[in-house]
Amino acid sequence: MTAYRHVFAALAVAGGITASGAHAQGTVEVLHWWTSGGEAKAVGELKSAFEGRGGTWIDSPIAGGGGDAAMTALRARVVAGNPPTAVQLKGPGIQEWAREGALNDVDAVAQEENWDGVLPPVLAGIMKYEGKYVAAPVNIHRVDWLWASPSALEKAGITEMPTTWDEFNAAADKLQAAGIIPLAHGGQPWQDATVFEDVVLGVGGAEFYRKALVELDQEALKSDTMVAAFDQLRKLRGYVDPNFSGRDWNLATAMVIRGEAGFQIMGDWAKGEFLAAGLEPGKDFLCAPTPGNGYVLNSDSFTFFKVQGEENIQGQQVLASLIMSPDFQKIFNLAKGSIPARTDVPLDEFDECAKRSHADLVAAIENDTLVPSMAHEMAIPRSIRGEFLDLVTAFFNSDMSSQDAVEQLAAAIERVQ
Ligand code: BGC
Repeated sequence: MTAYRHVFAALAVAGGITASGAHAQGTVEVLHWWTSGGEAKAVGELKSAFEGRGGTWIDSPIAGGGGDAAMTALRARVVAGNPPTAVQLKGPGIQEWAREGALNDVDAVAQEENWDGVLPPVLAGIMKYEGKYVAAPVNIHRVDWLWASPSALEKAGITEMPTTWDEFNAAADKLQAAGIIPLAHGGQPWQDATVFEDVVLGVGGAEFYRKALVELDQEALKSDTMVAAFDQLRKLRGYVDPNFSGRDWNLATAMVIRGEAGFQIMGDWAKGEFLAAGLEPGKDFLCAPTPGNGYVLNSDSFTFFKVQGEENIQGQQVLASLIMSPDFQKIFNLAKGSIPARTDVPLDEFDECAKRSHADLVAAIENDTLVPSMAHEMAIPRSIRGEFLDLVTAFFNSDMSSQDAVEQLAAAIERVQ
């Protein structure tokens, strides 16, 4: 008998569920924002595994990279008194919903299956509210990645992936001279913020990143280091093509896939796109961390909203157990581009980019250079993150000076705190 069945046996007794019920393994309505090629493939694995356990899956995808549209839809559903059973949610957002009393816990499953023993403490902490698991993590995504087209680099005479921002700028200049778009980018606030935070890590290092983007320290926000980060962002703005505005992130990845652009700065969900297009890492596309000595952490997890009915509650428990099963963590992450959240899943079948992610994560934990993603809602509340996104996007789409950007950003953050 698998561990999750113990939990259901207990539930069935408590709730009068019979094993012969029409949906013995529960029902879930799952709200998520995984709609690109690689994402759809990955969430398809979750759906079929859940159905394979006898459950009924109702899909509620809300398109929009980074999840901003999904979070707006979620708020509307909760306000209407009709929350979905399971929701893709992260970081402080989990705590915020738990504080509002909106979540069911899945602690019985977590205890039964010893989640504490198999999750890195940094993730386990995020998944719990008042000591109880209210979320189940599916993966670890790294945000500070640079993706490249080997054919584009070759045409421009670039032989190595850049390891400093100066090297990046030199490579981008070569691509531009060769008539190739240096940087594939989609001008949407969350994408601008993704690039920005990677630059902040690269220019300032992990301690500075933490001070500025997590602790919101005024001195750090107003510092010369932050001015230098905006200077580098201004350089990057010069490397994107004129049609970048509003472009979806996966369409930017497609430009690298086609060799129209040299690089993209994006988390490793981009790898899911390269793989879904049948490309091989190291041969058809390249990966390297963006310049900087750290690791920007993002992790997808599912939370379980307060819903009525044993059928739905049972669905939540089955889904929680499934998400955390080692087999599922392997299959899902092979498609998604991320690495398993569990520390005990062997990585033999994973590619070099995933192995690099894992090695760098372990090193970052050891060296205290692991930082949570601001852009991907792992670091600060949504309301404050919104101020960063507004300012960074305004900077990217105007000729605002770096000095002005720093002053406006520090003032905006001070106002909302
Ligand atoms: C999520 C990823 C997703 C990406 C683009 C990120 O915030 O963590 O799972 O693929 O947004 O939609």
